Amino acid sequence: MVAQLEEFEAGEPLVFELTHGDLCFAVKLDETAEHGVGPDENIVAFSTLCPHMGCPIDPSAADPSTGHFGPCGCHQSLFNLRKDGRMVRGRACSNLARIELEVRGNTVVALGKARPAFGDPLQEEHALTTVAAVEQAESEVQS
Ligand code: FES
Repeated sequence: MVAQLEEFEAGEPLVFELTHGDLCFAVKLDETAEHGVGPDENIVAFSTLCPHMGCPIDPSAADPSTGHFGPCGCHQSLFNLRKDGRMVRGRACSNLARIELEVRGNTVVALGKARPAFGDPLQEEHALTTVAAVEQAESEVQS
């Protein structure tokens, strides 16, 4: 689980761990986003790790009005959260790792990574973490 729908306020990132130590954030944007969930399809989630060389980016660097995220403090890459995390400028050569979200009832649930984040194994089977693995990790975090 990431959060209840009513916990999302535009531009206020909610930080969560997809698996132990795997820091991600979910944020509600002002406009509809590619792969967005929720009534307005504007809630998205991404890894906090820059895909260039893995520097963590502060989740509060998300601008809900433009959808921009960053710039990364290491080499200034900037990403567009409305457009599947595509790089707007900088040195990264891949998109920010998007987290697949689903709304179950009133709850936003993280299903796994749509593509590997920096440092993840690149094998296809790791591109989408299974729901079971995520739920197991959640129970480990809560215990
Ligand atoms: S690590 Fe982020 S731009 Fe290089």
